Formats: sequence, C-alpha cells, structure tokens
Amino acid sequence: MGWFEDRGRLADSVAVISGGAGGIGGAVTADLAANGVRVAVLDIDATAVEQLRDALKAQGAEAIVLHGDARDPDELGRLFTAVDEAWGRVDTLVNVVGGTFRAPFVETRPKGWDALLRLNLLHVLHACSLAVPRMQAGGRGGSIINLTTIEAHRAAPGFAVYSAAKAAVEQFGRTLAVEVAPDGIRVNNVAPDFTPTPNMRRMVGGDGAYSTPTGLRVGIPMGRAGELTDISGCVVFLASALSSYLTGTTLHPDGGTYASSGWLNWPGVGWANHAPSPVVRTLDSTGTGPGADAGA
Ligand SMILES: NC(=O)c1ccc[n+]([C@@H]2O[C@H](COP(=O)([O-])OP(=O)(O)OC[C@H]3O[C@@H](n4cnc5c(N)ncnc54)[C@H](O)[C@@H]3O)[C@@H](O)[C@H]2O)c1
Repeated sequence: MGWFEDRGRLADSVAVISGGAGGIGGAVTADLAANGVRVAVLDIDATAVEQLRDALKAQGAEAIVLHGDARDPDELGRLFTAVDEAWGRVDTLVNVVGGTFRAPFVETRPKGWDALLRLNLLHVLHACSLAVPRMQAGGRGGSIINLTTIEAHRAAPGFAVYSAAKAAVEQFGRTLAVEVAPDGIRVNNVAPDFTPTPNMRRMVGGDGAYSTPTGLRVGIPMGRAGELTDISGCVVFLASALSSYLTGTTLHPDGGTYASSGWLNWPGVGWANHAPSPVVRTLDSTGTGPGADAGA
C-alpha cells in the first residue's frame, strides 16, 4: 500500500455525489473512484449518466449511477435508498450541483430567484439532511463537501442571487460543521474560480477575452484557468483522512484570485488595484470610457 492509500484511508468508503457525471462533478467521481471509493451519483444529464455508467463498469468500479434531478428531494432520497440497499453506509457527500445566469439584479424576478435558490442552496440542505443521520448511525464520522465559488466571497455584479445562495451554502456548512463535529462528521466548502466546463462557458458569455492568454495573465495571479483536477484534488483531500482535523472551512482552488481580490497584473504595468494609466488613456482616446457614455 502506498503512502497516500495508507494515510488517506479512502478505499472501500462510500461517496454520494450530486451532479457527478459531468464538469467538475465528473472529475470528482473519477478521482474518488480511482482511489477505491464506491461512488453513488445522481445527474440530470442522461447521456453523461450512460457514459459514466459504462466507464465505471469498464474499470470494474463498484458504483450506482442514477439519472435524476438533485433539486427534487424524492430523487435524492432514491439515491440514498439505493446506497443503503447496496452498501449500508455513507462516508462522503459531495454537493456539486449549481449554476447561474448573468443579469443585473433589477432585471430579475422572483421566479428566477427561486430557480437559483433551488439550484444552488436547497438541494444542499436536502442532501445533508439525508446524509448526516446515516453518518451518525454508522458511527465512523464522515465528510461533507460543498462546491461553492469565489463569488460567495466577493461582490459578483450580474450574479447577485447566485452569489447570495453560494454564500448561504458557505455559512450553512460552517454552522453544520460545528453541530456535527462531536460525531466526527466534517463539513467543508471548495470555492473555485474560472474552471472551464461546457456549462460554465455558456454562463459567462461575453467575447471570451477573459480566457485568452493575456486575459488569464491579467485576471488570475497564476496566469491560467483552473483545470478540473485542480478542483477534484481538493475534494479528494477533503474526503480523505489527510484532512481529518479540518472542518468548517473553505479551500480556494482559484490560482490566487481570492487572495488578489481586485489586484490585476497589467502587461507592461504590473500589479494595480485600479485601471492603469495606459488603459484609461486608451479608453478616453477611443471614446469608449464612461465619460463618453455620460456625454452621449
Ligand atoms: N466551472 C466553474 O468555473 C465554476 C466556478 C465556480 C464555482 N463552480 C461551481 O462548481 C459546481 C460545478 O460546476 P460545473 O461548471 O462543473 O457545472 P456543470 O453545469 O458542468 O454541472 C456539473 C454536473 O452537474 C449536473 N447537474 C446540473 N444540474 C443538475 C441537477 N439539477 N441535478 C442533477 N445533476 C445536475 C450536470 O449535468 C453536470 O454533469 C457548481 O456548483 C458551480 O456553481 C464552478
């Protein structure tokens, strides 16, 4: 047995993963399964579910992969019941499902707010309410991991309700962590920044300039986008016994954007927490600055 297998103690444990068939969730499922974890996945994408089922079967991994909507408490219940029947234990819960759309808050309506709260907050509460009693009954502790976002930690213009819902998940996780700490159950959050997935690209929109080499160098201290494994590696760590004394906190796999908080690395200028003179002069000279709008 290798050092990580020995100290991580993941083999034969059971992980429930919402949204585990694609995007970040797909990487989480693959990396947990690669460490001998028995995975149980609920995902809304029927094609991704079939592909994941086939891939895990080909690896000889023990797995339950269901097609369904994590926003529906009955569907989550169906997944946990299947886990009870197959393995009779839950060691890890990873709440991956989440997402948003871009719109100024005043242009959004209650229907949209409800949709965002259901997609980003309420299923986390349902899943935790299903997982915690099982972990308590098992008497072996457990690890709950919520996928949140850097936008839970800073203002996010155009994403106000998503940002609020994810901040609520963070705070819920912090509180739950304390409530269940005596049972040896840990609750932590993972807060990525820009990690290209097909759905994420649709959500961000724009002309894609942020993801050119220059855009990434300016916006992200490490100068590159996140990779799926940057995120799934954090989840594997939090699921493993290597993090056995870590609870109620957040990991930030974001290349340094949370730390830099508004400081950008402008080519030819260096770090600045404001638009540097060449940028301002260019905007003024091309008539595209805010002054031009105000005078129009
Ligand atoms: N990708 C990023 O750059 C990024 C950045 C910050 C935070 N996040 C957060 O990370 C998480 C995953 O992001 P992603 O880009 O991989 O998302 P994604 O849209 O690719 O979805 C991941 C998986 O969840 C599934 N899914 C979506 N809605 C579901 C539902 N209602 N029920 C069951 N399954 C569902 C999808 O089919 C997919 O397989 C989200 O919570 C997101 O808010 C992502």
